[in-house]
Amino acid sequence: MSDPIDLAAFPRDFAWGTATSAYQIEGAVAEDGRGPSIWDTFSHTPGKVDNGDHGDVACDHYHRWPEDIALMRSLGTDTYRMSVAWPRIVPDGDGPVNAAGLDFYDRLVDGLLDAGITPSVTLYHWDLPQALQDRGGWTARETAEHLAAYASVVAGRLGDRVTRWATLNEPLCSGWIGHLEGRMAPGLTDLTAAVRASYHLLLAHGLATGAVRAAAPGAQVGLVTNHSTVEPASTAPEDLAAAVRMDGHTNRWWLDPVYGRGFPADMRELYGVELPERPGDLDTIAAPLDWHGLNYYFPATVTDDPEGPVPHAREVRLPGVPRTGMDWQIDAGGIEALLMRLTDDYGVRKLYVTENGSAFPDTVGPDGTVDDPERTRYLEQHLAACARAIRKGAPLAGYYAWSLLDNFEWAYGYDKRFGLVHVDYATQTRTIKSSGHRYAGIIRAHRHATTG
Ligand code: FCB
Repeated sequence: MSDPIDLAAFPRDFAWGTATSAYQIEGAVAEDGRGPSIWDTFSHTPGKVDNGDHGDVACDHYHRWPEDIALMRSLGTDTYRMSVAWPRIVPDGDGPVNAAGLDFYDRLVDGLLDAGITPSVTLYHWDLPQALQDRGGWTARETAEHLAAYASVVAGRLGDRVTRWATLNEPLCSGWIGHLEGRMAPGLTDLTAAVRASYHLLLAHGLATGAVRAAAPGAQVGLVTNHSTVEPASTAPEDLAAAVRMDGHTNRWWLDPVYGRGFPADMRELYGVELPERPGDLDTIAAPLDWHGLNYYFPATVTDDPEGPVPHAREVRLPGVPRTGMDWQIDAGGIEALLMRLTDDYGVRKLYVTENGSAFPDTVGPDGTVDDPERTRYLEQHLAACARAIRKGAPLAGYYAWSLLDNFEWAYGYDKRFGLVHVDYATQTRTIKSSGHRYAGIIRAHRHATTG
């Protein structure tokens, strides 16, 4: 059973949205001058992505965006979180700007605004131009400078209509999963590369924050990070210490420097990798933000694993705990705890949940509908938890369900469906799932409760 959602807790102007990212939905990878990204390379490398899937066509959003905006209207959402593909704008990562790429996002933004939907633009959702990877990617300091230059181009073009900007999506995934675990592009398993990449990603965030503000006065700039609550598997001192390490790896490494505390000393020592620091970098990384975006999916329960990879803490499976189709543990209390931590420990003054959602193996019924009670329940439970956080003082201004559409779920390909809208990839038919209808109902009920 789900807790009832305390709709009155959400402020009257609460922003209800859905989220996607460029590589996961657009397709059209070789159209209108787009250059290759590290995800084109990775997904076309045999064995990297389940079923050999790739984003060449994906949801064909590049051509079907008017239909997708119409879907947002059917859901009644106020806002849409999208990302801009860097390789469409600057195909070589630095150098000439591709006008056709900018034109695409220009039309998309206008289409959203015409539909009464506020765009929230993320500049980097993992699709690094391959040309920059060939020059070291995130292990090279120049990549951070190139991101800022690209950010300034995009903000210069869209900044008269877009105010909500995010620099990066989930630097943890780029840094740790892409460079340490090797399960995402560029697919490295190298601690030194990973730590350097993490540093340059945060530097890029800081530089891009300044670049967006300079190019688009009035821009509201934030950072989107993903986090998990971390619990020790037992009260043994080794497990307690493992939980502190995992918390450092997953949470503090990414938040402490952004909120002016520098990189955590315990983790620096654990990694044992010299940071490529230069004077002034920490101030750049800690540029004050207008908002923070939390992506939350699952909690972590960990045990000591001295022989395992950094941070020498291994996740354990708790028996009898519900899980999603990703095999991710479901715990709505985690979103509440993390919203409170960002509020109370880091002093964040404006928060969005920029992603939250669940994958389950949906099927289209004989009558053409898609009934997804588990995703609906996940949504309700997490919104109920958001309401509790607001009641406790979290300055939560909006919630973006991941995702508008079923899409290319990175190394898992198309098998993992996160959408509120089902996509039949053979025909590109979109069908709003029952969770989508439920979300629309929640949005309507909230409007009714706060304006009625
Ligand atoms: C997040 C990503 C997003 C999507 C969800 C399921 O880590 O930001 O693109 O893949 O997970």
